[in-house]
Amino acid sequence: MKVLAINASPRKNWNTATVLEKALEGAAETGAETRLVHLHGMRFTGCVSCFACKRLEKNAPFCAVKDDLRPLLEEALASDALIVGSPIYFGNFSAYAVAFLERLLFGCYTYNMENPSKLEGRIASAIVCTMNVDDAGMKRYGYDALMERYTRTMSAVLRGPSEWLAVTDTLQFADYSKYMSSVFDPEHKELMRAEKFPKDLKAAHALGVWLAEASE
Ligand SMILES: Cc1cc2nc3c(=O)[nH]c(=O)nc-3n(C[C@H](O)[C@H](O)[C@H](O)COP(=O)(O)O)c2cc1C
Repeated sequence: MKVLAINASPRKNWNTATVLEKALEGAAETGAETRLVHLHGMRFTGCVSCFACKRLEKNAPFCAVKDDLRPLLEEALASDALIVGSPIYFGNFSAYAVAFLERLLFGCYTYNMENPSKLEGRIASAIVCTMNVDDAGMKRYGYDALMERYTRTMSAVLRGPSEWLAVTDTLQFADYSKYMSSVFDPEHKELMRAEKFPKDLKAAHALGVWLAEASE
């Protein structure tokens, strides 16, 4: 069984990447094969609306766009479980995550009444978002609704269960004193890093175990 993690943060060893590594650690402990891929550095676009994926021919591709994402999409569709991690950027997923999900999900999606997915198997999936705001802010700004909406689509299109996890109040800068950032209380952020983030990592570990077990 294979669990693939996609890091849609440009930072390869900060909050989102760390959370994904923990989720994969959980999955690996159940015996799953795991791999973490960083989208930053790859050259790709979002969906180009060519509709090659919607053609009636039997061998219509999942996605016809030829760029760095194409083999990764194929790998994702051949995996048993998929976890996409993204920071919240201006109330949305990062552009990397949006492009990846557009290409992955639209490629599998059909406009058929009887079956909205071209997939024959099922892929369990999860979304993890890291963000500056605290739990109350996440709800106030509707980031929970954003993740809920995407997991519903992922569940329909990938034909497996889908869950989301929010990691709030993250440490954004190693040293807040170096940046224009007076809205943040650096002491509070350090405290969250020391006391809350380890709990978030435990939740990520549990999510990884769930992903591996849900895809059995
Ligand atoms: C361009 C940009 C926009 C951001 N917008 C938001 C936002 O709207 N809401 C929020 O809570 N955090 C926002 N953040 C903060 C990040 O979501 C947060 O620091 C996240 O944990 C970063 O993930 P990383 O450490 O994996 O890069 C933004 C950060 C950047 C760089």
